[in-house]
Amino acid sequence: MATFAVTGSASGMGAASAAALSAAGHTVIGVDLRAADILADLGTAEGRDLAAEEILARCGGRLDGVAAIAGVGPDLPDAAAVVSINHFGPVRLLERLLPALAASGAGRAVVIGSNSASTVPLIDDGLVELALAGEEQAARERARAAAEAMPAEVRAMAPSISAYASSKFALARWVRRTAVTPEWARQGVLLNAIAPGAVLTPLMLGSTGDAADHDPDAFPTPMPLGVFGRPEDIAFWVQQFLRPEARFTTGAVLYVDGGTDAAMRPDAQ
Ligand code: NAI
Repeated sequence: MATFAVTGSASGMGAASAAALSAAGHTVIGVDLRAADILADLGTAEGRDLAAEEILARCGGRLDGVAAIAGVGPDLPDAAAVVSINHFGPVRLLERLLPALAASGAGRAVVIGSNSASTVPLIDDGLVELALAGEEQAARERARAAAEAMPAEVRAMAPSISAYASSKFALARWVRRTAVTPEWARQGVLLNAIAPGAVLTPLMLGSTGDAADHDPDAFPTPMPLGVFGRPEDIAFWVQQFLRPEARFTTGAVLYVDGGTDAAMRPDAQ
């Protein structure tokens, strides 16, 4: 049986993934702000250091996989925090855990992006560049300034929508660029991303009530299947990416979104 670290394990997709992996008999090291094996704020350098050290201590320096799922949504008021949590959280943690993944011999990493990276028309190219350059402080400042400059009606609905979509866009691009470097690929460590669409988790339901209040056909982006996703729908693919048998897939971004991206961009491949 394998040992996996799962961030965001206290809720939603992370909780569903941790539960599925545990039920399959694997050892799961959960990381979250609360109700987890390791309590750490992945939005800060100190929190990432703490999480990395604790994970390495618990797995003895040999880790079979990481599912970097922790994240926040576009309605978090602090756009700078969105960038730190959604982009730098998974990136910095995975960089720290790479030696332990390599030691496994069949290391697997999967991150959770979002289909908003391709379906939300508010990508800030400058922010994406700063994120990919590893300039966290500059990226934070840019995200905050851009959020403050947005029209009041957009800010009222989703104050960090541009930072959210841009941080997920940068994360997917980081996965594609990084997965094929010799440090990852030639050590047999595979790195992939899942881009979920609307999934019924506390993040999506947030302040707006329970699942019954949401109509897929009234959602702002198309929902061709006529249903929202469940956390288990994402956990299923998390499990597949973490399997040792998934040995020829790296640098992939898999849309698990009920067809939203295909409906909006049918000719993009
Ligand atoms: P959720 O809110 O149910 O779970 C997210 C978990 O991440 C929570 O347990 C939370 O405490 C943890 N977390 C947040 N900030 C953290 C921090 N600074 N340090 C450590 N842990 C932190 O949300 P959900 O929906 O399960 O989200 C999982 C991932 O999926 C996130 O990255 C989110 O951005 C992404 N996503 C969600 C979509 C949705 O419709 N629910 C759509 C597309 C992407």
